Amino acid sequence: MCGIIGYIGHRNIHPTILKGLERLEYRGYDSAGIAWLDSGIRVYKKAGKVHDLAALIAQEKLNSHIGIGHTRWATHGVPNDTNAHPHLSASGKLAIIHNGIIENYSILKQELLSKGYIFKSDTDTEVLINFIEDVQLCNNCSLEEAVRLALNKVVGAYGIVIISQDHPNTLIGARKSSPLVLGIGKDEFFIASDATPILEYTDRVIYLNDYEIAVIKDGMLFLNDIKNVPITPYIQKLEIQLEAIEKGGFEHFMLKEIFEQPTSITDCMRGRLDIPHKTIKLGGIEAHMDQLVHAPKITILACGTSWLAGMVAEYFLEELCRIPVEVQYASEFRYRNPIIQPGEIMLAISQSGETADTLAAIELAQAQGATVLGICNVVGSSIARATQAGIYTHAGPEIGVASTKAFTAQLTVLMLLALSLAQRRKTITSSKFEEIITELASIPDKVKAMLQHASKLKELANLFKSATNFLYLGRGYNYPVALEGALKLKELSYIHAEGYPAAEMKHGPIALIDEDMPVVFIATKDRIYEKIISNIQEVKARKGKIIAIVTQGDEHVKQLVDHIIEVPATHEALMPIVSVIPLQLLAYYIAVEKGCNVDQPRNLAKSVTVE
Ligand code: AGP
Ligand code: GLU
Repeated sequence: MCGIIGYIGHRNIHPTILKGLERLEYRGYDSAGIAWLDSGIRVYKKAGKVHDLAALIAQEKLNSHIGIGHTRWATHGVPNDTNAHPHLSASGKLAIIHNGIIENYSILKQELLSKGYIFKSDTDTEVLINFIEDVQLCNNCSLEEAVRLALNKVVGAYGIVIISQDHPNTLIGARKSSPLVLGIGKDEFFIASDATPILEYTDRVIYLNDYEIAVIKDGMLFLNDIKNVPITPYIQKLEIQLEAIEKGGFEHFMLKEIFEQPTSITDCMRGRLDIPHKTIKLGGIEAHMDQLVHAPKITILACGTSWLAGMVAEYFLEELCRIPVEVQYASEFRYRNPIIQPGEIMLAISQSGETADTLAAIELAQAQGATVLGICNVVGSSIARATQAGIYTHAGPEIGVASTKAFTAQLTVLMLLALSLAQRRKTITSSKFEEIITELASIPDKVKAMLQHASKLKELANLFKSATNFLYLGRGYNYPVALEGALKLKELSYIHAEGYPAAEMKHGPIALIDEDMPVVFIATKDRIYEKIISNIQEVKARKGKIIAIVTQGDEHVKQLVDHIIEVPATHEALMPIVSVIPLQLLAYYIAVEKGCNVDQPRNLAKSVTVE
């Protein structure tokens, strides 16, 4: 999720590692740390910024040529000094930095606790380094063999770098699902999350693949996979500039985050959706599941795009769980005198976990005795701490002010909650449950397929960049998607856009339609498809310019409208995760065409911490 850098070579690790961590700051993080080999392993780490870490070690007489550094985006354990990386093994002889999520960490931790291991932190990473040490002790093997054996037992995502007090000339890196790049310099090696900390020293890099382990030992590089099969290193020449690397080669963070959605949606299901066993595990709210099962009502509190995620969830929570759901703007709720039923559950949704209105609404609800569960992206954020329990979306840092991957991660997590709740309330058949979880597991690939057609949205953006008004229309599950599409366009391109329930047009707004009014219909195949066709006809009869988001292969709507964008078919309750993608891209490309500041739109903040 965040940034790692390891170094071994002729340079002093200070400032090499610290400069590398500064290069990685753009990835967003909540804490930072560094470790190096001296007489033993020295570790300095703290919650906060890299410059706080630099101040901490400023007085150190640092003369070491092997070290590791980490910027953390917490997934397990709140951001604090203890949970920051690097983490030491029990013996203090091994140190690790890690990006990713060890899904089976709790099983591994139980095994190690039963052997008498003691843990200082709440992280999955500390479990991993102790597991590696335990494997080495039990098998009496080399460190690199222990790493290999341990990683064969690990489930989840990792990009790791390890140093060892007993092996001062060895640096070990390994990856699965979290990126890792080796920099090959003259008598020096780098291992990092991406090339930004490496670029100024060398342009010779090796991009590790999943299940590969790199061992740098006595100035030599050994590359094997976790089955111990040797890998021929493929050294590439870095061509792109620093600025480009920070954005992963994308022009803006927002576009990078739109394209990260197959990964972020996968990450938020990681360790939770178990298809073979047809189970969903949401550990964070397990203690409150019984109250949810018996809740007479669920009220959702949120703002902006998070509120729209709640609007989508209202449909599928009611549909699948047969519980009444009400979605409230937190900014309105906080000043009302709300009627909260005994046993009612509140869900607070927030990417940043710092939105003042949502925090205030939580406090009001709790003051009236309500249980509030949080759906947040930032671990340890104010809302995550203010709520009785919650589920993290694990979408990784969202740098662009306009929320994209956080929205689809929220929808995914809320769907997991709805399915788990419906199963326990017995309001869903096992065949229906299986149908939806199987479809949910295919969503990342469907989003990926949709993203292949981004150029079509770029073409549309060029055609409509001069529009001064837009209408976004949808019905059912796609109605909140229409609102989100309008919000994206407004906040990015400053074009006035309105989202509306398609059927409501005839009650007044249809007077707006003329040949200068672009109308975006989300018209994917669902149980009210025929009705949306009628709404398209009504707009067409009044010469509206129609862009329709349709289910792949829909030839019918194609005959009726001016432009179509096809999305892969999926269950109607999951369609918002897919149908929002073209709307994110349309808003992005129109904003770029208009020369707007896409990552920091005017007047906006990433987190509205004031009311
Ligand atoms: C969405 O693109 C906006 N950035 C904004 O509406 C945002 O969703 C809203 O401010 C809520 O933020 P939160 O999810 O961090 O609470
Ligand atoms: N899961 C680890 C933790 O929570 C690593 C998080 C990251 O990728 O920064 O500490």
